[in-house]
Amino acid sequence: MRTTAYLLGIALVLGMSACNDGSVWTAQERATLQSLNLATLPAAHDPSNRFADNPQAAALGKQLFFDPRLSRNGQVACATCHRPEHAFSDGKPVAEALAKGTRNTPSLLGVAHNDWFFWDGRKDSLWSQALAPLENPAEHGFTRVEIVRLLLEDTAYASQYHALLTDLPTPETVATLPTSASPSGTLEQLQAWKSMPPAAREQVDQVFAATGKFIAAYVSSLALAPNRLDTAINNSSALTPSEIAGARLFMGKAQCILCHSGAMLTNQTFQNIGTGMLGKDSGRATVLDSVRNDRFNCQGKYSDAAPETCTELQFLTRNRHSVAGAFKVPSLRNVAQTAPYFHDGRMATLDAVIDYYVQAAQQANKDHDLPRIELSDAEKRDLIAFLKVL
Ligand code: HEC
Ligand code: HEC
Repeated sequence: MRTTAYLLGIALVLGMSACNDGSVWTAQERATLQSLNLATLPAAHDPSNRFADNPQAAALGKQLFFDPRLSRNGQVACATCHRPEHAFSDGKPVAEALAKGTRNTPSLLGVAHNDWFFWDGRKDSLWSQALAPLENPAEHGFTRVEIVRLLLEDTAYASQYHALLTDLPTPETVATLPTSASPSGTLEQLQAWKSMPPAAREQVDQVFAATGKFIAAYVSSLALAPNRLDTAINNSSALTPSEIAGARLFMGKAQCILCHSGAMLTNQTFQNIGTGMLGKDSGRATVLDSVRNDRFNCQGKYSDAAPETCTELQFLTRNRHSVAGAFKVPSLRNVAQTAPYFHDGRMATLDAVIDYYVQAAQQANKDHDLPRIELSDAEKRDLIAFLKVL
């Protein structure tokens, strides 16, 4: 039966190719595919980071990204979890460094094209994002004062910092800083922070923010490579019949494109697909205040953007209820390399993800935003074949 269906499918595909300029796609399919094409992605632009396009800053940021000295035990770098050979993710369900985390490590390829960062979008820029893992007790477990000391007391780093920044604290000032201090650390670290003169705190925050901007200049250079889908628009022989059938399901019957749209295969919104457990990890709903009050956000004093250009922040919803249990719709580019899946890595394989979509959609009392879909086993296989093209 299935073989017959497949042969029929191939015959259909061939039949269409004969009557449509050598392409299997209908005009509408071509238009939709074109909207997914990497070539349509505009260059990423972050006005809140004046170093975003500075190659010297990116070269420095790359050293910082791979440097394990920026951590409590001297063994954790950004690259510990964002591993180049895993599309800059780590292959684990949830991240683990100084302690086990609760979230899955996302890929960083093309990440500069996102509007919000982290699964719940609690950061509004790449540079502000980079500051969080450095002080997260489960990740680098460092404090901003230790970071500033380390960087400005290291001759190789200090000369690069001096080439890019003015008004750096003098070596004498650096020598008077406490060993470890941060406004978001332990009680002791907080007390040490409060005991510092306001001018010293200000200088530390300036250098800390600039460090985030250098790292972001590197991270934003991690570009996506075109995949077979990007070439398949003008050359459908780049795809197998099963992959073509999967593309049709993705754009049509399976309705994936409702959320996974555009060249990044995400509409950049936060959606509740039933994976957030209210009270435990309610995603977007829990961070609306913190992103608004973050001193390192786009409207804050360390941002290089004019505050009125921070439109994402301006239009941020105040309605927690509307985003309860919602997580960022992730990009699906390179998805075959970024297992396990979902914000907490609960799904080991793409098969499990597709089964979830079919089952969740059929729940009677559904408390999520998923459309109702039905897929046969053959259709599930085609859809997965297509996801692997991405
Ligand atoms: C212990 C592992 C670990 C370390 C170390 C780590 N990260 Fe991450 N990274 C994660 C996890 C897990 C998430 C998702 C966390 C969340 O959503 O709450 C993440 C999210 C991100 C994101 C957001 C991606 C997106 O699509 O929203 C960026 C960018 C990022 N990390 C960059 C960095 C940089 C830069 C460093 C070093 C300063 C770093 N990470 C250190 C595990 C890590
Ligand atoms: C209503 C919006 C919506 C629709 C429709 C939708 N998704 Fe998703 N998708 C999401 C969200 C939100 C997440 C992240 C959920 C989480 O982490 O808990 C996600 C996650 C995923 C992931 C995991 C990616 C990763 O890196 O962890 C895959 C794969 C995926 N979706 C594929 C699909 C496919 C295939 C379809 C069509 C059958 C589909 N999605 C339909 C919103 C949607």
